[in-house]
Amino acid sequence: MAMLDERTATDLLRCAGTDVIPRGRFTSPAFLELEYERLWPRVWQVACREEELAGPGDFVEYAIGDRSVVVVRTPAGELAAFRNTCPHRGTRLLDGCGRVDGEIRCRFHGWRWDLEGRSTFVLDEHEFPAAPPEELALGRCAVDTWGGFVFVHFGSDPEPLLDYLHPLPERIGPYRPERMRLTGRTATVVPANWKVVVDAFNEGYHLAATHPELLRWKDDTALRYEVFETHTIYGGAGDPAPSPRLGLDPEDVDQNELLALKIRDLVENLPGYFGPDDVAALEEVLRAPLPEGVTAGQFYLARRRSGAAARGLDWAHLSDDQVLGGDDPLIFPSVLGPAVAGGWFAYRCRPNGDDPHSSIFELWTLQEVAPGEDPPPVPPVRWVADWHDHDWGQVVNQDLANFGAIQRGLRVPDGPPLRWNRRQEMCVRRFHEVIDRYLFGDGAGG
Ligand code: FES
Ligand SMILES: [Fe+2]
Repeated sequence: MAMLDERTATDLLRCAGTDVIPRGRFTSPAFLELEYERLWPRVWQVACREEELAGPGDFVEYAIGDRSVVVVRTPAGELAAFRNTCPHRGTRLLDGCGRVDGEIRCRFHGWRWDLEGRSTFVLDEHEFPAAPPEELALGRCAVDTWGGFVFVHFGSDPEPLLDYLHPLPERIGPYRPERMRLTGRTATVVPANWKVVVDAFNEGYHLAATHPELLRWKDDTALRYEVFETHTIYGGAGDPAPSPRLGLDPEDVDQNELLALKIRDLVENLPGYFGPDDVAALEEVLRAPLPEGVTAGQFYLARRRSGAAARGLDWAHLSDDQVLGGDDPLIFPSVLGPAVAGGWFAYRCRPNGDDPHSSIFELWTLQEVAPGEDPPPVPPVRWVADWHDHDWGQVVNQDLANFGAIQRGLRVPDGPPLRWNRRQEMCVRRFHEVIDRYLFGDGAGG
């Protein structure tokens, strides 16, 4: 009965159709439970990258709440996803990632399955009631790929992945994420609800207060925001220019300095945003003064394009905007971050067990590999027990430092409802409307 009351109360936490947002969306255990029940089993989720599953037997476990799935590369080179629980007495079968030697084996009584999930061994099988093979097989999950990302879906009849992702394949596909490879992965627990974290990376409205140094070369007011039925994109503003918030006279802006500030921030304060070749080319740019009459943006663009061409990367189809600034998509609900020509700086965030006040946060860096180049080895996941103990780069450090304060503030009893900026936080709003569509089925969000 208590739970029923809580469920009724969660109805009051919906955001659709109003300009004010209940705080309980970020703090209520019942709301988190509703997300586990109605959101996560109904969406395609990024489980891992394809390069993590290079050969037969390579596996990656993806867990969210109590759900766990193991994605495996089969001997036929396909991907298969299995529910990570033994059909004998329930034991979790595989943890983390690694390679199994042709079969999956349960640690408890030694039952075994091939990499298609078919039962191959049951100890003393004649002592069990006869069962059809499918009852002894591992439970399957839907699995598919786009852009080198491996997606899983826990539902029984999911919509096709490409339909779900629309229009991201068309909009983000030109960056060719399928040619990118992981160059770094760092994971930790942060002290805020998972939606606080997604929201924090889904707008540029916080740049002025949280990352003020970026305003010296980035016009935060020029960022564009787009919302779609399920996903969102913001971005642009890649042409180096100071924010008008600084009140500088354009005549006084030194183009050499502008270029240096942009490159320094992208190279030093967002480590992993560019690969080593890009960094070397851009550092060379910093050593030479701009030619007469050439703006910082023109020079930066030309050097990025020529650097890519020298490596054999074909960026001819990418617009100047895509090379200069990129796009920051949210792959609803849990992966977001800037994709730019040559790479992707991606965050993945999901709830942390039954605690609405913390979440599992990961930073993935991806770099495009040119034809003929050796791909980098898949980096191990660096697990940081306390997020303070790792230098994430100045920009992400600043974002992470906000999370505890946001969550503690959200928990203040009787705080007023929250409000979103109609333009610069439209992607945040859409994210929550889509969550409500899954939770309450009320069609919010299109
Ligand atoms: S629980 Fe897996 S073999 Fe017994
Ligand atoms: Fe930020």
